[in-house]
Amino acid sequence: MKKYQITGGLPLSGKIRIQGSKNAVLPMMAASVLQKETVELKGCPKISDVFCMEKMLQSLGAQTAWEGDTLQICCREISGELPETRLAGKLRSSILFLGSLLGRSGYGRIGSPGGCSIGRRPTDLHEMALRALGAGVTKTENGITAYAGKLSGNHIRFPKSSVGATENAILAAVCAEGTTVLSGCAREPEVQWLCRFLRRMGASVEGESRGCVIIRGQKRLHGCTFQVPPDRIAAGTWILAGAAVRGAVELDRVPVEELETVLKVYRKMGGQYRVSGDKLFTDSSRVGRAVPYVETESYPGFPTDLQSPLLAAAATLSGKTIVRETVFEDRFAAVRELRKMGARTQIRGPLIEMEKSRLRGAQVAAGDLRGGAALVIAALAAEGNTEVEQVQYIERGYERFPEQLQQLGARIRMIEE
Ligand code: UD1
Repeated sequence: MKKYQITGGLPLSGKIRIQGSKNAVLPMMAASVLQKETVELKGCPKISDVFCMEKMLQSLGAQTAWEGDTLQICCREISGELPETRLAGKLRSSILFLGSLLGRSGYGRIGSPGGCSIGRRPTDLHEMALRALGAGVTKTENGITAYAGKLSGNHIRFPKSSVGATENAILAAVCAEGTTVLSGCAREPEVQWLCRFLRRMGASVEGESRGCVIIRGQKRLHGCTFQVPPDRIAAGTWILAGAAVRGAVELDRVPVEELETVLKVYRKMGGQYRVSGDKLFTDSSRVGRAVPYVETESYPGFPTDLQSPLLAAAATLSGKTIVRETVFEDRFAAVRELRKMGARTQIRGPLIEMEKSRLRGAQVAAGDLRGGAALVIAALAAEGNTEVEQVQYIERGYERFPEQLQQLGARIRMIEE
């Protein structure tokens, strides 16, 4: 078991280069099975979710190779069945193979998808979209199977914004016969990046930035080389970590336009920043005021993935912050752990209140990826030593997290028992 030992109380300063985006690259990896040549993903983050997705690709028959931070995926021969059902349970994005395998060969079978436990996470919208394209979908406790003699374009309206279901529908539709129109789609940047990537593979996809995606099915897609975009959630995590310890962090390769809402909240706390090209210079020396109310929302709203890191920073601000979680029903594991560190916080339904707290080192455990990052942020701001256990959750999405923090002057070390 791995854990982090952190001594709090030091400001962060220095430079960080933002890693490639986890939520953008995972759908691209799933999409690679739609073509029979080689896809090259440059700037691919070396995180455990990517390694797990790579294992799934290999178990489907793909050949993969790393050259530095470029991941090559050759999909000449692919089977429709993911034989190791256990693998699919390790992350949520495994469900995206249903859409892409259907698109490739009309048949996909995977184990039940997993992911961080942050709520119920049903798959009804994924199933609805695949059925609307002509697939039969059956779900058992062991997994999901989708099959179609032929996929045909259709008009599909999502009653609720879902990133994964939008991506799955697009993946299934790009090689379907005829035109598909998807409305009510999620507009998250990662959906938009998937569309750009698919166009590079020869797909005809448009309209994704407006939430209405029009796809003209193509017979065949081809290999391509693509640069994985920077991770807006990782960038947001660094901004909030800097805020919690009043640091001055320079972020390199930042998707500034994707962070508008996060930077607005940061400004309200008293944070200052300057943008130069894709660099963001943050100065948190004047951070101190609580932001009274923040609601998580689908893009371009405040991302639910930064709810826990925001609350960790909020524990250091004067006054009360109220955050309303509107996306997931049970994304509060970190809040419960933060209490062990002295956080004055309450959960009332979807509302979380956080008051200025005297954070003290404690023994805590990550229960999900972003909640784990929040515990590390709180530990950096706390008096004394904190041990964060179950850091395998953090490693799902953050590349070299302790090393990057050390680079900014934090006292953190990883212990493997
Ligand atoms: C993706 C992100 C995750 C982020 C989330 C919301 C990846 C790998 N993960 O997750 O980091 O927190 O978007 O921005 O990209 N829902 C249904 N039925 C479905 C599917 C979803 O009711 O079939 C609900 C979910 O329970 C949730 C909401 O829709 O309440 C949004 O979920 P969704 O956008 O699908 O999240 P993910 O794609 O799983």
